[in-house]
Amino acid sequence: MGFHHLLLLILFFSVFLHNFVEFVEAQIPGFVSLDCGGEKNHTDKLGLEWTPDDQIIYGKTSEISIKNETRQQYQTLRYFPADNRKYCYSLNVKTRTRYLIRATFLYGNFDTNNVYPKFDISLGPTHWATIVISDANTIESQELIFLASDPTVSVCLSNSTTGLPFISTLELRQFNGSAYLTPFEDQFFLSVSARINFGADNEDPVRYPDDPFDRIWQSDLVKKANYLVDVATGTEKVSTNLPINIGKDEMPPQKVLQTAVVGRNGSLTYRLNLDGFPGFGWAYTYFAEIEDLNLKQTRKFQLVLPGAPDLSKAIVNIQENAQGNYRVYEPGFNNISLPFVLSFKFTKTPDSTEGPLINAIEISKYLEISDGSFDGAVAASLVSGYKSLDWAQEGGDPCLPVPWSWLECNSDPQPKIITVKLSSKNISGSIPSELAKFSSLEELWLDGNAFTGSILDFTGCPNLRIIHLENNQLTGDLPSSLADLPDLRRLYVQNNLLSGDVPIGLLNKNIVLNYTGNHNLHKKTSSGRLSKYIIFGLAIGAVALLTGSICSCLIIRQRKKHHSPKKEPEASFHVSSMNNATSEGAQCFTLSELRSATDNFQKKVGSGGFGTVYYGKLNDGKEIAVKILGNNNIQQGKKEFANEVSLLSRIHHRNLVKFYGFCQEEGKDILVYEFMHNGTLKEHLYGPLAKEHRLKWIKRLEIAEESAKGIEYLHTGCVPSIIHRDLKSSNILLDNNMKAKVSDFGLSKLAVDGISHVSSIVRGTVGYLDPEYYISNHLTEKSDIYSFGVILLELISGKEAISNESFGINCRNIVQWAKSHIESGDIQGIIDPCLGEEYDIQSMWKLAEKALMCVQPHANTRPSMSEIIKEIQDAILIEKGGGSSEEISRNSFHSSLNMGLLDVGVDPYASFHESIVLPSAR
Ligand SMILES: *[C@@H]1O[C@H](CO)[C@@H](O)[C@H](O)[C@H]1NC(C)=O
Ligand SMILES: *[C@@H]1O[C@H](CO)[C@@H](O)[C@H](O)[C@H]1NC(C)=O
Ligand SMILES: *[C@@H]1O[C@H](CO)[C@@H](O)[C@H](O)[C@H]1NC(C)=O
Ligand SMILES: *[C@@H]1O[C@H](CO)[C@@H](O)[C@H](O)[C@H]1NC(C)=O
Ligand SMILES: *[C@@H]1O[C@H](CO)[C@@H](O)[C@H](O)[C@H]1NC(C)=O
Ligand SMILES: *[C@@H]1O[C@H](CO)[C@@H](O)[C@H](O)[C@H]1NC(C)=O
Ligand SMILES: *[C@@H]1O[C@H](CO)[C@@H](O)[C@H](O)[C@H]1NC(C)=O
Repeated sequence: MGFHHLLLLILFFSVFLHNFVEFVEAQIPGFVSLDCGGEKNHTDKLGLEWTPDDQIIYGKTSEISIKNETRQQYQTLRYFPADNRKYCYSLNVKTRTRYLIRATFLYGNFDTNNVYPKFDISLGPTHWATIVISDANTIESQELIFLASDPTVSVCLSNSTTGLPFISTLELRQFNGSAYLTPFEDQFFLSVSARINFGADNEDPVRYPDDPFDRIWQSDLVKKANYLVDVATGTEKVSTNLPINIGKDEMPPQKVLQTAVVGRNGSLTYRLNLDGFPGFGWAYTYFAEIEDLNLKQTRKFQLVLPGAPDLSKAIVNIQENAQGNYRVYEPGFNNISLPFVLSFKFTKTPDSTEGPLINAIEISKYLEISDGSFDGAVAASLVSGYKSLDWAQEGGDPCLPVPWSWLECNSDPQPKIITVKLSSKNISGSIPSELAKFSSLEELWLDGNAFTGSILDFTGCPNLRIIHLENNQLTGDLPSSLADLPDLRRLYVQNNLLSGDVPIGLLNKNIVLNYTGNHNLHKKTSSGRLSKYIIFGLAIGAVALLTGSICSCLIIRQRKKHHSPKKEPEASFHVSSMNNATSEGAQCFTLSELRSATDNFQKKVGSGGFGTVYYGKLNDGKEIAVKILGNNNIQQGKKEFANEVSLLSRIHHRNLVKFYGFCQEEGKDILVYEFMHNGTLKEHLYGPLAKEHRLKWIKRLEIAEESAKGIEYLHTGCVPSIIHRDLKSSNILLDNNMKAKVSDFGLSKLAVDGISHVSSIVRGTVGYLDPEYYISNHLTEKSDIYSFGVILLELISGKEAISNESFGINCRNIVQWAKSHIESGDIQGIIDPCLGEEYDIQSMWKLAEKALMCVQPHANTRPSMSEIIKEIQDAILIEKGGGSSEEISRNSFHSSLNMGLLDVGVDPYASFHESIVLPSAR
């Protein structure tokens, strides 16, 4: 080879090498960005490199149907069956390193079902969040900050309650400093609730590459309900182009600190909802003086917290605290109790010339880390031996939040594995020794595989009751130690290659034992041929052996004994499915039966759009409500009526009035329901009942929640979904225990659609009727949402939906009236005077704001039922005192100065300091 060739070769290699190195460098160290359901690697506009999740063996991929979504990573997703399993992603991490993990979900109607999914995600065994999709076009996002303790971390989807669980992206971002070190990080994750960039230039969040850790700093300009509202007058944004001295660690990026808001009128106020709260959290504020103050100007401010005067004492003077301009000062709290609706206010001190200034804020909730299942480590070691087999790739914790498909676990706080079912899984090699280490194991099923070698010593599993080892290629003895298992009831080892003698201890035990088909395995006694399989009876065993007939009788009894439903899941399944079958069909009552039950339609308990309702009592004592439908409502034949009615009877939900059956005789169409003792919500809100026994606010919230759940079920739990069309407070009924149930569902369809299934008549009740439906005659679930919004307003105000007197001049309608009050901030003006002072204003606000969303004129801007439920539940939490101000506490703080101390192992509690301001409370 000549010199030139050599040179060329070197050149070639160096080019090649250079390119190769460049490819590796293109990856951002510590970043993993999974494009779930994607096909190819790609780099997005920000410079993040996305890789497909094609190593996952479970689930299917799909594209979303949002045409204008241009970001490739959101165009696809991976979805999983809605079963009782979990589906996990496993990511490699460095131990003892902090990470940000972010999962996003863009539904985009990928399944063309328009059923908004609701499911859980977990990080390892820890429940992370419930993902509730409430809009097809909005990205749901969840973020956690955690300290990696194992070399892998798993994110699992499970427990789908509606729709199919799915995921759009999964992102892992490695931190390299200690800004997120907390004294509790071994027991708590930080679940990010708010990360706000004040004074932002536009609505875009600041993230990578401005933030090298790709945190997402939300712009304070984004307009959302309950997000940064109640802004004080005189709030102005300010910004600078000068560099900010960020200091060390993971301070907010310069771009975030270069903008701020200033309270020119002397104060800054904000109110926002904190997802995940009330609870204990981590809250930090970031201040950098970016206005050039002259010598006469000062900026000093403090936090004002009604109900927590202690926390107002500290005074912030950014220049002093940060030791100069354009430097960060970041006081905060490592553990503070925060409410769901957080209102915070900074006010200038009397001697300060300038109003307060704030650049950024970060709030996270402490999420308790689950210890995981007791057998976690052993199970992990077990599956690591079978990496290529499906069942070993389920990932995550063996028992939590739901067990692997082939395991059952008990319900201990730290669950233990009690059943291993690996029948017919094509497993070869010897029986893994880990199985003998599941100390609470009760059932072991390894039959129908190709296991070789000898049977393990199971003395470490004293609770073993059932062992299935049949149909393998096991060799060696049948260990006599099996006889020492005190609870052993069944042992199957037939069709293996076992040899030697059957231990006498086993033969003398009261168990089912089958060892046929092991040609070299013998019973020691001379009566060997008789007992190739033996089921033994206690002390009388010897006698039983002599007579074949007694023996077989024992076999049968023994089997029956073990056929109790609890131990045999198949059996219990049959029982319950039969019960369902009988309770499901609509019962056909005879008219005479109903006549006698109602005492010839004596006691009228109500009347509505569909007919008159009578009280009745069946022979078995069951109380019923008998509704005789008005003739003009039913426009269909007998058969269609029966069909519709049998459909109705399949709708079961705790918050829907139970339908018992129907009767069609003598030209009458009659429906029979459970009787609801406490009548309608309407009667309890206004009218005579309301005066003597007023409903408390918490009860009203509960009624709202219960009825919302019933409606949600109609919308998302039924196929095809059911639109109620006539929701109103007189269709919400209350049972013995004052639990609410929705009534009259499905009737509108019965009455109007008839055979043509084309709705031509607008149905509904004035005051509750969706104006858009009224105009367009196009019916969707969102029409029910409108009506429900009206019900919420009734609950708040105790006023009727339509009234000539209640709402002042020129206003007959609760919506208009409530809207004008709420929008002008005057919520007091609409609250039912009956409630007195017994309510929390924050929960009232929450409900009022949601109610207004429900009665938006345009259907597509109204929330979904599941969103409303979440809101009501949050209001209930607030009302029950989840975020009361007494609980506000402060345990410790950190600042850039202190972090250095923490790093060298100084007790973080030692750094507690009195003069620290925090943003918090209500
Ligand atoms: C895609 O990226 C991953 C990791 O970033 C890398 O391992 C893989 O080789 C890439 N695939 C292709 C086809 O470039
Ligand atoms: C797509 O269009 C919808 C409605 O036209 C709009 O609300 C949404 O913001 C758009 N999305 C993007 C990513 O442009
Ligand atoms: C599944 O979700 C439902 C409703 O969201 C919840 O009530 C239930 O506790 C969850 N189950 C598990 C095992 O997490
Ligand atoms: C941590 O990451 C930041 C941003 O990527 C970098 O500037 C800094 O040098 C890193 N520090 C260490 C100690 O690696
Ligand atoms: C606060 O600002 C508003 C509008 O900017 C102004 O009308 C008002 O007088 C100011 N109030 C005080 C106390 O400065
Ligand atoms: C925060 O403080 C409360 C009460 O002082 C305590 O119960 C809770 O465990 C603390 N939270 C953490 C994460 O340690
Ligand atoms: C024992 O196993 C053999 C082979 O599988 C089977 O034919 C026989 O019915 C079993 N006997 C009992 C009592 O289960």
